[in-house]
Formats: sequence, structure tokens, C-alpha cells
Amino acid sequence: MTAHPAVGLVPQPREVEPRHGHVVLGADATVWSDPELTAAARWWRRTCEDAFGVTWDLRVGAGIGTGTGTGTGTGTVFVLDGQLPAGGYTVDAEGSTITVTAADAAGAHAAAQTLRQLLGPAAYRRAGAGAVAVPAVRIDDEPRCSWRGLLLDVSRHFMPKDGVLRMIDLAAAHKLNVLQLHLTDDQGWRIEIRSKPLLTQVGAWRTGSGVGTWRAERVDETPHGGFYTQDDLREIVRYAAARGVTVVPEIDVPGHCQAAIAAYPELGMPGAAREVRQSWGISDGVVRPTPATVAFFAEVLDEVLEIFDSPVICLGGDEVPTTPWHGSAELEAQAAELGLGGVDELHVWFVAQLARHLAERGRRASVWDEASGPLLPADAVVCSWRGVAQGADAMRAGRDVVLAPEQFVYLDHRAGDGPDEPVPVGFVRTVDDVYGFDIEPPPVQEALADGAPGRVLGAQAQLWTEHLDSGRRVDFAAFPRLAAFAEAVWTTPERRDLADFRRRLVEHHLPRLDAVGVEYRPLDGPLPWQRRPGVQGWPRDLEAEFAAAGWAGAGGWHPE
Ligand code: ACM
Repeated sequence: MTAHPAVGLVPQPREVEPRHGHVVLGADATVWSDPELTAAARWWRRTCEDAFGVTWDLRVGAGIGTGTGTGTGTGTVFVLDGQLPAGGYTVDAEGSTITVTAADAAGAHAAAQTLRQLLGPAAYRRAGAGAVAVPAVRIDDEPRCSWRGLLLDVSRHFMPKDGVLRMIDLAAAHKLNVLQLHLTDDQGWRIEIRSKPLLTQVGAWRTGSGVGTWRAERVDETPHGGFYTQDDLREIVRYAAARGVTVVPEIDVPGHCQAAIAAYPELGMPGAAREVRQSWGISDGVVRPTPATVAFFAEVLDEVLEIFDSPVICLGGDEVPTTPWHGSAELEAQAAELGLGGVDELHVWFVAQLARHLAERGRRASVWDEASGPLLPADAVVCSWRGVAQGADAMRAGRDVVLAPEQFVYLDHRAGDGPDEPVPVGFVRTVDDVYGFDIEPPPVQEALADGAPGRVLGAQAQLWTEHLDSGRRVDFAAFPRLAAFAEAVWTTPERRDLADFRRRLVEHHLPRLDAVGVEYRPLDGPLPWQRRPGVQGWPRDLEAEFAAAGWAGAGGWHPE
């Protein structure tokens, strides 16, 4: 059998049945859609119009494709079928019609991305002409998990809005459905809060940036900054929704707050640094965790909730040095009054107050694993990043979990161990390593076998940007490893095959990324201009850390 283009799909669908020939959609084709699937239908039409120069009719109507006589002829039909598994779809391309049946809007978006992949690299260009020829095929598909996330850190280095929209396109192209925007950190506050203008007037700008690991103590003097207006963020949220992606905003508290404290010093402990941080690493920029500070951030969140419709809002809670709180008579008295075991427990208490604020407004909090604890509302989601043992523990405590372990899915970590890797930090995580990640690592399997009541919602790849100071550097870190991650969270383990993935990647998927203009890391190493000679990284040894700390990992803040 000659290779059918459908075999080049990434991620690999559940079932692919190649047929002979093509469905050719000319200039007079139509797109029919059930009203619930219109966003995907519109996206499919626009994508083909841009890439192939066609102009298609779009007809939307209830019951399309269900035998009422509408939705037949040359074109694409998007049919709703509630019997399919959530997020699932089928594609039936034969003769003159492509029929997509989708369980829901998410399934239709996934199907539309599959159709685009079937068209090859030309479909990834924004202007072109020619036939829209979809190989005849039958595909049955459904996602392995419901949270297929990508975190983009826009605080350490600001990514202008256009770049965020492009990352949404790229996430959607890989059937990822969550973009977590890390909007606040020590090095910059990036979301306009109208009632607290200094957060961006002061907190969005710094006078220099670290060069390489903070341990090298090198800082350049190039000012850096930027922020998204609320209108920008509304646009980002709508743009993402039109592609099946939910934007989860992250407001990181009570640590990683030096930029907020620079703007409003009363948020910080006496003596706290008063400028937006320039260098990387864990800072002492923790808030003063009092009811007044809770009230401040509750007001921030009220504006966040007006902008973002995500059911989940991330409150951070990672890497919180509690030492600045030690010896504070005010905080000791507050902790005693609250019945806490000491000021250290104000960390989870603070996050829990805001999580409750969200719960009262119908939203779920998510937190990094350090902030997991009984004080949080029962429905709070835990993002397990220091390792996966924390996620398994949270499942035993009844929590839903997103796996984001730095040992597997931190894409800012080095993609190879050669001398040419730019600013090599973290563990070596090759394409193959990321492909080998699974949402049921041994501690999770054990928790499930023991009947842990919590669930794994899915997993999230992280793009922290201390050392990714431009969209080009983000491309290099993200791709093609994000394609491997996408298959790890979409395709069941029985259907995954590394050698086959690598073949599809090289023959079909890298040409798609080339057509988009993604500056990925070539599989055999960085191109000359992708290197950063002379900038010091901080490589870590995965085997040594695993030997020392097991599945819990050795990262995070540790008291001296
Ligand atoms: C993290 O990497 N501090 C979540």
C-alpha cells in the first residue's frame, strides 16, 4: 500500500481507514453546520479560503446532516452527534462530501484541525491558490484526556498580543485545548486592572533583565516590559474560543509578587524590595498575607473574572519563601487567631481565601502543588509540577489533578545535552523523552489502584520564559517537542509508537510547521543563530535528582 497522507496525522487518531481518491472541494463548495458547531465550521472555511483562494458559502441550521435534506452536495457538513464521546469526532470523506460528526464544539474543532492536516503544508499558508483536495478517508477519534494544556509565561518576557494569538493557533493545530497564561510574577505584571492602575503603570516595566542563570549574576541594562489591556485579553479569550482553546489566567500569589509590591508597597512585608525584579530565581517578593491583602487580590480577581470565562482560574501558590513572615508579631497573632500551626501556614490559608472567593462566584481555583491542602475548597484543581507524587497525593485527598511535572514537560528545559544548546537549563528533555510521558505514571497508577477519589484531568506543558526572550526563542523551545506532548495527551498508549511518530514528524509535520513559519529546533540540534554562546545555563541531572528525591522531585523552595 502506498502511504496515504492520513498516516501523517499528529496526534495519531484512534482509527484511520484510508480510502481511494480525494474529495475535491472547488470554488462552489458549501460548508453546512449545526448551530453548535459553527465556530469550527467558520474556522475551516476561513482557513481554506486563505490558503487556497476559494470562496465558500456557509449555511447554518438546526438538524443539518440529519436527513432533512440540507447538507448534501459538494462541501463539508458538520453534524452534531451527542452519542460520541466528549471531544470526539468522526470524519467521513468520500465522493464529493466530507461529513464531520462531532460530539460537541470541541470535537468539531479537533475534526477541523484533522482536515487541515490532511491537506498538507499548503493549508498552513495564509495566501495561496489551488484545489482543496482532501484524501478520501474515514477517521474515528477522541481525546485521551480533557485538559491538554500549554502554559505560556508572559511575565518573565512579555509576548506581544500577536504572538499570543499565534501560539493559540499553534496549540489548536496540535489539538491542545488549554492555554494557561502566567500573567504575573516578580519580573512583570501583565494584565490591566482598572481599579489598580499602578499594577501596570509601575509593575509592568523593569530596567534590566538577567542574562542566563541568576547564579551568574549577570544583568543587562535593556529596559523590558509590556502588558495586555482588558480589550486585548478579551480578544485573546474570544480568538482562543473560536479555535476550541480555553484561556486560563494565572495570578500568582502569595509568592512571585515583587512586581505587584513594587506598584503597591503596602502589599509587601516591611523592607521588601521596591522595584520590579530584574534577575531570575525564587525571590523574597512574598506578600504580607493579611485580610487587607486578600481583599486587594479579591478585587483584582473580580476584574479577571469579567475578562476570562474559563471555569478554572489559577492562583499560583508555588515557591513561597515564608522566611520574611517569621518574627512578624502581626502575622504570628493572625496565625494564632486563625488556629493555624504558625505563620508558614498562612501560605495555603492566603490562597484558600482567594479560592473561596472564586468558588462563591462559580469558578474553580487551580494551584501549584505546594498550595494544596485541606483549607482549599473541595473542587480546587492541583497542578503537580515538582513531581508526580504530589499529584497522586492530591488524588488520594479527593482532588482533580493536572500533571505538569518538571521532569517531563517543562519545555524551557534543554532539548539536548550538546554544547550548542542555548542557555541550557534543567533536565535534558528530548523529543523522545517528551513523547514517553504518560498521564498515568507509577504513583498515579498506584493511587488509581487504591481507589483514590481524585481524577487526572490531563497534563500541561510549560514554557517558562526567563531564558526565552523572544517569540523566536519560544518557538525553538516549544517545537517540535510540543507535537510529541500533544500525542502523549491525545492518543492512548496502545496507539502510540515512537518510531512511527518520528516518521510522521519528519515526513509530514515539520513541513507543516515550516509552512506556518515556526522556527523549531531541528532534530539534529540548533541552527547557528539559535545558539547563545557565552550565556551560562544551569543544567540539572535527572537521574541524580530522581535517585535523591524519587517521584516527588527536588525542585521548589526549601527552607535553609
Ligand atoms: C513552577 O515551576 N514554579 C510552577
